[in-house]
Amino acid sequence: MLHDQTEFEDIIQKHPQEKRALIPILQDLQAKYNYLPPVALNMVSQALNIPLIDIISVATFYNTFSLEPKGEHQITVCVGTACHVRGAPKILEEFEKTLRIKAGHTRDDMKFSLDSVACLGCCAIGPVVVVDGEYHAQTSIRNAGKIARMLEKKEKTND
Ligand code: FES
Repeated sequence: MLHDQTEFEDIIQKHPQEKRALIPILQDLQAKYNYLPPVALNMVSQALNIPLIDIISVATFYNTFSLEPKGEHQITVCVGTACHVRGAPKILEEFEKTLRIKAGHTRDDMKFSLDSVACLGCCAIGPVVVVDGEYHAQTSIRNAGKIARMLEKKEKTND
């Protein structure tokens, strides 16, 4: 995936060129590209004088950051214990079936990424699904299918 390096430069320059700017810069890059492009991370490393390996450690520690290109729509299904006992595995399956994608993957057309997580920290409202940053509480298989079909439809009308 090719990106304009001047865009990376603009994002980096918006912040103070100090170590404490690392997370805000990574957040801006993630928000704009849906992942952290390797060239941008090299530029951040030079600008803030932080070794690349340390930046990668930060990026892999927080699951809001991705080192892999992600789809336009990101779906995360919680499969932690509380959500699991309320049917999360079937909900995950419904997304896999409807969006024709395996959990942990991004579809070839880069429209969707589907992931599962161990716990989102809001077990009382499970099963929980996060779609493009929006939390869906007490999700059912039916809701999951509805959300997936709605996203597909949205993408088809955008094509
Ligand atoms: S187990 Fe799903 S939010 Fe905690």
